[in-house]
Amino acid sequence: MTLQIKNLEEYNEAYKHSVDDPEGFWAEQAETFKWMKKWDEVLEWDFKGPDVKWFKGGKLNITENCLDRHLEDRADQVAILWEPNDPKADVIAYTYKELHEAVCKAANALKANGVEKGDRVCFYMPMVPELAIGVLACARIGAVHSVVFAGFSSSALADRIKDATCKMVICSDYNHRGTKNIPVKNVVDEAIGMGCDSVETVLVHKNTGADIAWNDKLDKWWHDEVDNQSADCPAEQMDAEDMLFILYTSGSTGKPKGVVHTCGGYMVYTCFSFKNVFQYKEGDVYWCTADIGWITGHSYIVYGPLLAGATTMMFEGVPTYPDAGRFWEICDKHRVNQFYTAPTAIRALMAQGDEYVDKYDLSSLKVIGSVGEPINEEAWNWYNQKVGRGNAPIVDTWWQTETGGILISPLPGITDTKPCYASYPLPGVQPVLLDADGNLIEGNDVEGLLCMKFPWPSILRTTYGEHERCRQVYFSSFENMYFTGDGARRDANGRYRVIGRVDDVINVSGHRMGTAEVENAINEHDNIVESAVVGYPHDIKGQGIYAYVITNHAITDEEAFRKEIKAVVTKMIGPIAKPDMIQIVPGLPKTRSGKIMRRILRKVASGKSDELGDTSTLLNPEIVEAVKEGAAALKKG
Ligand code: WT7
Repeated sequence: MTLQIKNLEEYNEAYKHSVDDPEGFWAEQAETFKWMKKWDEVLEWDFKGPDVKWFKGGKLNITENCLDRHLEDRADQVAILWEPNDPKADVIAYTYKELHEAVCKAANALKANGVEKGDRVCFYMPMVPELAIGVLACARIGAVHSVVFAGFSSSALADRIKDATCKMVICSDYNHRGTKNIPVKNVVDEAIGMGCDSVETVLVHKNTGADIAWNDKLDKWWHDEVDNQSADCPAEQMDAEDMLFILYTSGSTGKPKGVVHTCGGYMVYTCFSFKNVFQYKEGDVYWCTADIGWITGHSYIVYGPLLAGATTMMFEGVPTYPDAGRFWEICDKHRVNQFYTAPTAIRALMAQGDEYVDKYDLSSLKVIGSVGEPINEEAWNWYNQKVGRGNAPIVDTWWQTETGGILISPLPGITDTKPCYASYPLPGVQPVLLDADGNLIEGNDVEGLLCMKFPWPSILRTTYGEHERCRQVYFSSFENMYFTGDGARRDANGRYRVIGRVDDVINVSGHRMGTAEVENAINEHDNIVESAVVGYPHDIKGQGIYAYVITNHAITDEEAFRKEIKAVVTKMIGPIAKPDMIQIVPGLPKTRSGKIMRRILRKVASGKSDELGDTSTLLNPEIVEAVKEGAAALKKG
């Protein structure tokens, strides 16, 4: 069994062991899994390449560890518990035995449709059990899954399908979300029409049953292909370093990149971190509210919990349907023991009033988690008092798509918690703070750039098809360091508080976005000459999107124009990237070399126009006044 730390002494011991002898430490953890062939070498690494290999030469299949391994002692235990969007509709439960069968059938259906080891399969689906089943079916046969969050637009979906040259797309007909019925197959059709020539099959899961357009050349129904397959599908033998999945994420420049995770290290680390951060115990019901379209869903709805033999819940709906008490109603109904959500959801529900949470029995909750962005003190306190009722420790978990698993978090009941602090590194994680010149900032009560000086098993291996970009973005800023892009503070006790991105990445409702990506989308509008996007503090979303735009002619109906800009962003990326504020400006403050001075734009957007400092060295200092005045006018509405 994977180590589950029980007290502070064990944490200190495990941490020390993991730093003194990382290979020995991780070999011990890895030995608790089922390998088809044992590894030859635990770790080979070099951050220059980068070239990181964990459990080199080892052979395994992650689904044998998620499913087959549990058939002996927990075949009839619920593996996935599915709560539908409509609270009156039926809950669906898959036991480990049933999930194993469903995955094998789906895997055979993939094979029957020509999907082979190494092929890429794209998912564009709502939170239905078939999404988890499909993902595991890929892993079963060694196909690489690339899940795209079903809120992205057809254009964003097409970019991702093309980048990974996916052979198959798996989608549903429609998505239920609150009172809405969202046509997703339609979005896939549009994306396919944008030149996704690699796609040979679109496998459609019938979710709502409403009418959809049908393309006889590509489209097949999930039930036609899957239901009659054999429930026997031997697990493909995978190398520890074979690709398990690609997941696209935004950076400060260019298009989103496909973060690549591999089989062995990802398996060991997600299981280890899940068991320790959530202190999952036999019989517990664990619920993470994320969407499987994000890394949180991959690691802590699907893989981590199933590897640990847990009962993991999937929720199809939204936190506010039928009302703002839905999360708490579900926790009460299923006697949830570990609950994991995002600060933006906490803030949104907090704003609806306490009556929604007070009326439910939340006594089953033992651990409550937070992920995706810094959690502010007010939200932390509300979560602690109203949801945790003062006796369920909050685990503020810091990590990234690239890290594969949680790197910094309290261990509930073991290490202490402090509002806004992700606190201590997990065993195997070696964070350091650097200054801008790359000097190590030692001691406590300090602030700096958060880096990792040693690899952990689930560190990204590359960005799909662009290894040089991976080196450039994560490993070139500082020698022999993985740079996270975050700034952090280390308090007097050595706890970490992650403050936020120090690059041109913004975090809107826990969704990561590159400002350049949003600018490129805005620039698609015919009347835009140039744009600059920055984040600004937003009560619910954490950060809002503020866009400064220069137009090629005077705009008479600004309201209508703003709507057009939002529509173009929705079309290019998706509704999550829609600017909250759009200010039309006569120009943008620039340096003498022509670079936009984002620092100034950030200050103005944040309502700190009086803290701009010296602007006289700008190429166009006169523009600053106009930008400030425009912002003040926009705020007044
Ligand atoms: C970025 C990664 C990891 C799953 C969800 C987001 C921010 C994440 C925290 C936290 C402060 C956090 C960071 C990070 N972030 N968790 N607990 N406290 N900031 O994954 O989309 O890859 O975004 O989210 O800025 O770099 P992601």
